[in-house]
Amino acid sequence: MSRYTCNLSTNAELIAALSLTRHSEGGYFAETDRQDELVPSPYAVVRPDGQLRSVATSIFYLLTYDEPNGVFHTNRSVTYHILHHGRVEYTLIAPGNPPRIERVIMGANVAAGERRQLIVGGGVWKMSKIPKADLVGAKSEEEKARAGCLITEVVTPGFQWEDHQFLTKSGLQELFQELPGVETKMLEFLPYI
Ligand code: GUN
Repeated sequence: MSRYTCNLSTNAELIAALSLTRHSEGGYFAETDRQDELVPSPYAVVRPDGQLRSVATSIFYLLTYDEPNGVFHTNRSVTYHILHHGRVEYTLIAPGNPPRIERVIMGANVAAGERRQLIVGGGVWKMSKIPKADLVGAKSEEEKARAGCLITEVVTPGFQWEDHQFLTKSGLQELFQELPGVETKMLEFLPYI
């Protein structure tokens, strides 16, 4: 059994047991909580939508052998990621001049620098994927059926599509336009848009 598969359940069993559905970012998810308590949107200054937000929401998020990555997106709210099992590589791009690119592996091997918890601030572009080595390492059908990672994400103030944005090709170009090597960055990140 690979170190990066779930011993207890296959992905299909997890999807069924946790009622996960496809996420438009890639992967599978289910909203597990949306607090009834509402707060005024703190982003009203950014965009005066005058809306209320749940004080916090949470989801399960699953990447699998067949659905091994998400695409770049951002949220105005902070997102707390908590790992349940497997490994996942996050690429984070904090806008700025220059933009700050960070790669983080979430995994159980904390001694090797893997992280069980990842906090992504509002406005940071984010994408996640199962590390290539883990996909290649899943050889048998049994290992492929179990390869993946399960995460809980907590968003506060709670998730709302109005606060969410997918990265576009022109958005990506804009992020890196001031920099030498913009073409390399485009090639690297375009598959995840
Ligand atoms: N609905 C669609 N995507 C999401 C998400 O990422 N979080 C929550 N809470 N709801 C969603």
